[in-house]
Amino acid sequence: AGPECLGRIVMRRRVGQPDWSDEEAEAARAIGQDLGDAVLTARSYLRQQELGDYKGRLITAVSHELRQPISAMLGHLAVLAETVDELDPDDPTYAPLSSTTRRIGRAAERLSGIVTDLLSLSLVEGEESATPRTPVDLGEVVHGAVELLSIRALHGQVTLTESSNADVSVLGDAAELERLMINLVGNAVKYTAAGGTVAVSCTAEGDEAIVTITDTGIGISADDLAHLFEEFYRANDVEARRREGTGLGLAIVARIVERHHGRISAASIHGEGSTFTVTLPLAPPG
Ligand SMILES: Nc1ncnc2c1ncn2[C@@H]1O[C@H](COP(=O)(O)OP(=O)(O)O)[C@@H](O)[C@H]1O
Ligand SMILES: [Mg+2]
Repeated sequence: AGPECLGRIVMRRRVGQPDWSDEEAEAARAIGQDLGDAVLTARSYLRQQELGDYKGRLITAVSHELRQPISAMLGHLAVLAETVDELDPDDPTYAPLSSTTRRIGRAAERLSGIVTDLLSLSLVEGEESATPRTPVDLGEVVHGAVELLSIRALHGQVTLTESSNADVSVLGDAAELERLMINLVGNAVKYTAAGGTVAVSCTAEGDEAIVTITDTGIGISADDLAHLFEEFYRANDVEARRREGTGLGLAIVARIVERHHGRISAASIHGEGSTFTVTLPLAPPG
């Protein structure tokens, strides 16, 4: 295989047969080379599988282990922040202490977000068959995500609307579908400036459930659209980079959609807004 010799194949002619011709010898060499290539491919496939498993286990273990110290840190920080708030504002230590505490708090929140994303990604990696298939009311899941993000929308002065049909039921994992909706609605709210709108709808059409999340936000360029669902990918856009993020949210979304045998698409006009559409097979009636 290439310059490497992996082994030997011996071919013999029966006694009395004529000698190998040059063409036959060439064909034998070619067969040997093909076999060698096949062996190399099989080896690198096995190695990748091993590495993939190892990477997945490592990420799961590390992110799981990090969660506890991070939540301890956030807890203690809250106590510290309260103590600092009780200081006399005229005290010369007050200003630096309070600004440092706030900064540590923001960094800790960010760290906690990264760990949560890594853990969710590692949990949806791997076997599709591992996804539980129980009936899930998708309208309810969408409603839950919208409700959860309404506070953030209010903060950012973004109008968040929802229109969901009852009885849109799919087979799958409720927690994963929640994560899916939270990530998509969360992005729409995050990447929309004050005064904008985010509209979420959940309907059934034929044998499919369709969820659309449309925002009047910063939009996504065609170049960025092509890479959106890759791990760690964040748009090459000043406005987008002003918001904090890991670039893992949509990679998680894509995996969850795949695990539920669905499809996802994104359409956008840069500077005007974006629409994400998720299509999932409806649960069979009965
Ligand atoms: N609704 C949206 N409007 C504009 N840009 C978006 C939207 N959703 C995602 N993006 C872009 O796609 C990138 C990847 O999204 P995501 O994987 O959720 O990562 P992040 O942690 O940055 O939110 C974001 O960094 C952003 O640039
Ligand atoms: Mg995101």
